[in-house]
Amino acid sequence: MEEQVKHNGEQKRTPNEVVVDIEHISKSFGDNEVLKDISLKVKRGENVVVLGKSGQGKSVTIQCIVGLLNPDEGVVKVFGDVVADMGDKQLKALRTKVGFLFQSGALYDSMTVRENLEFPLTRVLKMKDKAEIDQRVEEVLEGVGLLDAIDKMPSDLSGGMRKRVGLARTMIVKPEIMLYDEPTTGLDPITSREISELILNMQKKYKTSSIIITHDMECAKITGDRVVIMNDGEYIAEGSFDELQSSDDELVRSFFNETT
Ligand SMILES: Nc1ncnc2c1ncn2[C@@H]1O[C@H](COP(=O)(O)OP(=O)(O)O)[C@@H](O)[C@H]1O
Ligand SMILES: [Mg+2]
Repeated sequence: MEEQVKHNGEQKRTPNEVVVDIEHISKSFGDNEVLKDISLKVKRGENVVVLGKSGQGKSVTIQCIVGLLNPDEGVVKVFGDVVADMGDKQLKALRTKVGFLFQSGALYDSMTVRENLEFPLTRVLKMKDKAEIDQRVEEVLEGVGLLDAIDKMPSDLSGGMRKRVGLARTMIVKPEIMLYDEPTTGLDPITSREISELILNMQKKYKTSSIIITHDMECAKITGDRVVIMNDGEYIAEGSFDELQSSDDELVRSFFNETT
C-alpha cells in the first residue's frame, strides 16, 4: 500500500492500458435494482460517453469508481486495483488521480476564483511555493479561457463561467482520469457546446482518460471517442456516435431521435 501512495501519478504507461475496468457490477438500494451486470473498460487517453435517461444509475456507477459506493456484486478496478478493497490511504491517493466534476460542480462562494483554484493545490497536493501555485492557477484558468476572472467572486460569474472554473479546479491537480457527471445540464445550447469543446481540449492537453455521463447528444458527439448506451441498469449498445445513430436497433436509435 505504501508503494502505491509513493508512486502516485507515476504509473507505468503501456499503450492500450485499461485504466478503469468495471467488471459485471450490480447495485441495489433495497428493492430498487439500479445496476444489473454492468461492464465497461476505459483505456488510457480515451473519452467514453455513457448515454442514458435520468435515474438509470449513471451517477451510482461514477460513485463506484471513486469508492463512494461499493457494488453488491462484481468489481471496479482503477489502475488495476480493486476499489472496494482499498483502505483510506489508498482511496485518498486514488482521488488525487481521479477528478470528478459533479452535476452541481459547486465552488466556494466566499472565495475568489483564484482562492478556489489554490485550494486543491495547497490542501490536496500540499504545494507551498507561491510562484509555482500562481503559475498553475494562471495556466489552468487560461486553459478554460477565464484568466480575466481570476479575482472575481463566483457570484459575479455566469453559470457557464462557474462551470468552467469548476472544471479548472478539477483539472488543476492534473488527474489521470476525469469523471464528468452531466457536465452540460442546465446550460444553454451555446454554453453547452463550449463546455463540450473544453472537455475535448482538456483531454488533448492533459492526456486524460474520461468518462462523460450525459443525455446531451451534442456533448456525446463532440467529446466521445466511444459511446455506451445505458437503459434499465444495463448497457445495451456501444460504438462510435455515428455507428449508434444509424443502428438497426430501434431502442438504440430512439435515444438519438428524442433529443435531437
Ligand atoms: N445513496 C443512495 N441511496 C438510495 N438510493 C439511491 C442512492 N443513490 C442513488 N439511488 C437511486 O438509484 C437510482 C439511480 O440513481 P442515479 O445513479 O443518480 O441515476 P442517474 O442515471 O440519473 O445518474 C435512483 O432510483 C436513485 O434514487
Ligand atoms: Mg445522475
